Amino acid sequence: MEKTFLMVKPDGVQRGLIGEIVSRFERKGFRLVAAKFLQVSQTQAEAHYAEHLGKPFYDNLIRFITSGPVFAMVWQGDRVIVQSRAMIGKTDSLEAAPGTIRSDFAVHTNLNLIHGSDSPESAEREIANYFKPEELVDYTKNIEQWI
Ligand code: PPS
Repeated sequence: MEKTFLMVKPDGVQRGLIGEIVSRFERKGFRLVAAKFLQVSQTQAEAHYAEHLGKPFYDNLIRFITSGPVFAMVWQGDRVIVQSRAMIGKTDSLEAAPGTIRSDFAVHTNLNLIHGSDSPESAEREIANYFKPEELVDYTKNIEQWI
């Protein structure tokens, strides 16, 4: 079963949206397999956003993601990477479809509340940047037979 890395960013934490965001993925039918409330280190931030090094928004991005605590999670489910990206919505909240997290709650492009992995390779790399393998919990959830 596919896994993805999702993170409520510092703005989402400060605005009290952790519960709302977790609830959306729970209600969708995905399975939470790991979660951690943490302060992202400079090293973790640089590893996380390495592909954006050199872009005009890179410094802002690093400063923002290390500016306060985040809620990091691993979710599992059928096509969870692409489906969670659809639930999150486009980077710019103006372009995000109604009903997505960014359309419903975000106002700025840079303060966009949540990060979601964009490919299986990114998911694997991002999960490893924040979680040890033994922190991913394997358990049964009977509800999945109905999803
Ligand atoms: S790109 O160039 O198309 O890959 O960029 P994009 O996927 O849209 O965004 C990559 C991450 O950078 C964040 N971003 C920004 N942060 C601050 N300021 C500006 N202007 C800006 N533009 C994009 C965007 O939120 C993405 O972060 P994550 O955490 O991956 O969602």
